[in-house]
Amino acid sequence: MKILVVGSGAREHTITWKLAQSPKAYELYAAPGNAGMAKVAKLLDIKAEDNAGLLKAARDLKIDLTVIGSEGPLANGIVDYFEKNGMAVFGPTQKAAEIESSKVFSSELMVKHGIPSAGYAAFNDFSQASAYLQTQKPPIVLKADGLAAGKGVIIAETLEDAQESLKSMMQSGTFGSSGERVVIQEYLNGREMSYFVFTDGQNVAPTVPACDYKRIYDGDKGPNTGGMGSYTPPPFYNAVMGNIVMETIMRPTILALADEGRPYKGTLYGGLMISNNVPKVIEFNARLGDPETQVVLPRLKTDLVDIILAVLENRLDKINIEFDNNACVGVVIASGGYPGKYFTGYPITGLDDLDKDIIVFHAGTKTGTNGEVVTNGGRVLTVVAKGKDLAEARQKVYKNISRIKFKDCYYRKDIAEFK
Ligand code: AMP
Ligand code: GLY
Repeated sequence: MKILVVGSGAREHTITWKLAQSPKAYELYAAPGNAGMAKVAKLLDIKAEDNAGLLKAARDLKIDLTVIGSEGPLANGIVDYFEKNGMAVFGPTQKAAEIESSKVFSSELMVKHGIPSAGYAAFNDFSQASAYLQTQKPPIVLKADGLAAGKGVIIAETLEDAQESLKSMMQSGTFGSSGERVVIQEYLNGREMSYFVFTDGQNVAPTVPACDYKRIYDGDKGPNTGGMGSYTPPPFYNAVMGNIVMETIMRPTILALADEGRPYKGTLYGGLMISNNVPKVIEFNARLGDPETQVVLPRLKTDLVDIILAVLENRLDKINIEFDNNACVGVVIASGGYPGKYFTGYPITGLDDLDKDIIVFHAGTKTGTNGEVVTNGGRVLTVVAKGKDLAEARQKVYKNISRIKFKDCYYRKDIAEFK
């Protein structure tokens, strides 16, 4: 098969790397891709949001399957567009993907179908939202309704901060049109976990859970980022909890979406909070997580092409999906200054100087004029290792990561460290 992966982050590199291991993957393409993906796929200079450009390329190249990595193209209706034009594509339709692209929709869906989640109230009107806020006790969770690249969530420690944030969301347009509607959510305490499933719209297959680190500095300090590291499995996780997640959250949500006339195919990501062994939904995403994918897919033993074909052909119940029992740790190397202002174009050295069992997934990289790899974004690389347990995997990553260098590079030192 000729397969096209849409996206350019480390998640998409991981997906492409995994697809490349399949005997069924004859030729791989990535749009727009990065320097790491260029090692396993041919890069196409087409933006992930350019539906028409991607369709034309897929047709010209006789692509058999297109795999969508990130939420932007899904919300932009790429799956509907490809399907309408008779092209096989992996990911949910625009209406199904609203489970991520509209917090109001997903919150209403969960309440209507009895899926355990944070309580919420939704507002279009600033003064009503502001009056409601005055009745709440901090911490208060405010979310812009639409997609905001992971930055649409504010957790306010005081009522004054909450009012200030509400103003900037609804009146100053900090999040653009995403913030015209807001959800004010119950604050959930506990341990966070990301849980992905594959689904064909009826059958739902679990993967392995993972945790990510959202803040820029060690000890979960500083501003939120796209994710600075991840690991699997969470030490607080067990098979009983997995069953509870599947039977009270993931399966009911897929059936609820089918029931609402929005059948969901692809991967669904439950962002969960576990307190006293009870999981509740913080949010859903219509895709795999980044940087969790970088540690989850290396544990997948089953051919990813086979899984995707089973999803597309509505026979996910007929395939056995297996993961290994290893632990896996990923640490993100970012450009100094990220998630604020940073510079790009710096040569990266040391990539060929790593132990054999280290995997490096690229995000913001490109190939420079002399064939060297240079930085091209905020999050640059995820360095990944497996081990018999988290301590071993973590030790391998940190033993190698300092060999990779570029000007002002930065990474957290405390990923998968448990004190
Ligand atoms: P989100 O973009 O919805 O994943 O939110 C970003 C982060 O904010 C989450 O990963 C949580 O750490 C935190 N968060 C979001 N919603 C809640 C909530 N209702 N209660 C507690 N923490 C939350
Ligand atoms: N790891 C967070 C996300 O992918 O949204």
